Amino acid sequence: MDRLFRTDLKALEPPTVTVPIRERMMCLNESCLDPYQAIKDQFLARMKDVRLNRYLSPLTPELNQKLADYIGCGVKPENVAWGNGADDMLYHIFLSVRENEEAFAVSLAPSYFDYKTFCDAVGLKIKFLELNEDFSFDTRAYLDLASDPNCKLAILCNPNNPSGNLYEKEQLREIVDALPQKLVLIDETYYEFSDSTFAGELGEHPNLILTRSFSKAFSGAGLRFGYAISSANNIYNLKKVFTTFHSSILSQAFALTILENVPVFCALVLDTIKLRDEVYQELKAIPGLTVHPSHTNFLTFTIGDRTPQLFQYLQDKGISVRDVGAHRRLKNCLRATLSCADDTAYLLEKIKEFCGV
Ligand SMILES: Cc1ncc(COP(=O)(O)O)c(C=O)c1O
Repeated sequence: MDRLFRTDLKALEPPTVTVPIRERMMCLNESCLDPYQAIKDQFLARMKDVRLNRYLSPLTPELNQKLADYIGCGVKPENVAWGNGADDMLYHIFLSVRENEEAFAVSLAPSYFDYKTFCDAVGLKIKFLELNEDFSFDTRAYLDLASDPNCKLAILCNPNNPSGNLYEKEQLREIVDALPQKLVLIDETYYEFSDSTFAGELGEHPNLILTRSFSKAFSGAGLRFGYAISSANNIYNLKKVFTTFHSSILSQAFALTILENVPVFCALVLDTIKLRDEVYQELKAIPGLTVHPSHTNFLTFTIGDRTPQLFQYLQDKGISVRDVGAHRRLKNCLRATLSCADDTAYLLEKIKEFCGV
């Protein structure tokens, strides 16, 4: 009965995540640090006054304000929209720019895999510009692709997942400036680990929209909370494709509680950055292993042709990392999320063991 659905869906599959389930999950860039019990208790205390029988909640405007305060840079509640993770924001941004069958988005590659998944889901085509070997890219080539009248969205993931690198601000600014008639999306999901943001430049660039997530720095992957930041007019237009009550009061209450504890999470982010940089140096010292510099909460590395065996070895030792080698620029690369010191030390031990160091 496929014919009951859109014909282009025939070639697609529902989104799934195929990663090995092991005791030490270091494969999905989540924080392995569950919010402290005290924060959960604050959430539960707040829930005592929350009316789940109602659609509307006084929490909503409070959350809007607290989120704008957290973002800073003069951002106001009308500059923000939120939903079920950054993914939900991406999906709805794609939906809101899909003009017709010819419309397409442009992204670099390799980058976040689900740009294609969600573009496919809403019927927006997507074209890719391949990154150079050092993960840099050519501005002219990107603009050539994005300047096509049917290009409705230019996507830039900064820092980039899964390569981990951060692009020069000047280069991204040049792209935003050169495409005043296109929406330019900068995905800042890993912003807290890079401390680089365009939030302070939204006033100068009416075509710019940012997306961010509570799944990484705020230990909230299961919470499903992400947000978009842009001009009030862009946010107003984006919200036209939202459903009316698209975000659960439970998520809003928890997100608000997280925002009341930002210093706790900032301290965890600093720990993760320190851990990442230490592990980077350790991996770099292993003969035959190449590790890429990272501005995120993960490291991407390879030991060449023996990588599949290392992947299996780590699984056998109870560690799940992500195979990100599908794109030729990351051939034989694995990606490991770093946030838990114990898991990370164990990972390092097992990599060294495998490499005979
Ligand atoms: C670049 C990038 N964007 C968006 C997301 C989705 O984040 P969320 O969990 O908030 O939906 C991820 C998740 O890994 C990501 O890596």
